[in-house]
Amino acid sequence: MDYSPKTFNIPTLDGISQKSIEEHLGLYQGYVKNFNAISKKLIEYAADTEANAHALSELVRRRSFEFGGMRLHELYFAQFEGGAKSLATDSPLAKQIQAEYREHFEAYFKAIASMRGPGWALLYWDPVAKQFLAGFSGEQHQGHFVTLPIILALDVWEHAFLLDYGAQGKGKYIDAFFKNLNWGVVEERFAALQN
Ligand SMILES: [Fe+2]
Repeated sequence: MDYSPKTFNIPTLDGISQKSIEEHLGLYQGYVKNFNAISKKLIEYAADTEANAHALSELVRRRSFEFGGMRLHELYFAQFEGGAKSLATDSPLAKQIQAEYREHFEAYFKAIASMRGPGWALLYWDPVAKQFLAGFSGEQHQGHFVTLPIILALDVWEHAFLLDYGAQGKGKYIDAFFKNLNWGVVEERFAALQN
């Protein structure tokens, strides 16, 4: 089954240009396209796994990169929909953040996002331990806490900020991300995981 790129209703953002978002959405669509193309190739290669062993092994590795790029960008762009909204201090999400990180969450998450190398700062919810795990995924598919759902996704590849802030502008871009973040989306993701 082919995956279809999603569309997002993203308002004008403060500090992240429309041009940057448009180009970024194009990259996202590329992940979907490549995931579909690799999936088709793998079906072809499955017909003769011996003859295609090397190609098959490389594409299997590559496909999780494309899948990660697809799903992480879907989480990312959705967080701008509806416009900036601050975290409601009396929400279950805010209470859990306060319990685990006190007032340090944003600084901690920004420090993770500022790590060198392409990737993502991600906040996961562990439903077993009932706690957050904040982490960094290199590229799109490495370093994940397997099986854990992601409730906050911050893209820190250079393509996310190069156009607006230049190669050394990651810090300014991270600030802009939080300025435009709709915390309501994150609250809904968190609420959906409680039972
Ligand atoms: Fe990206």
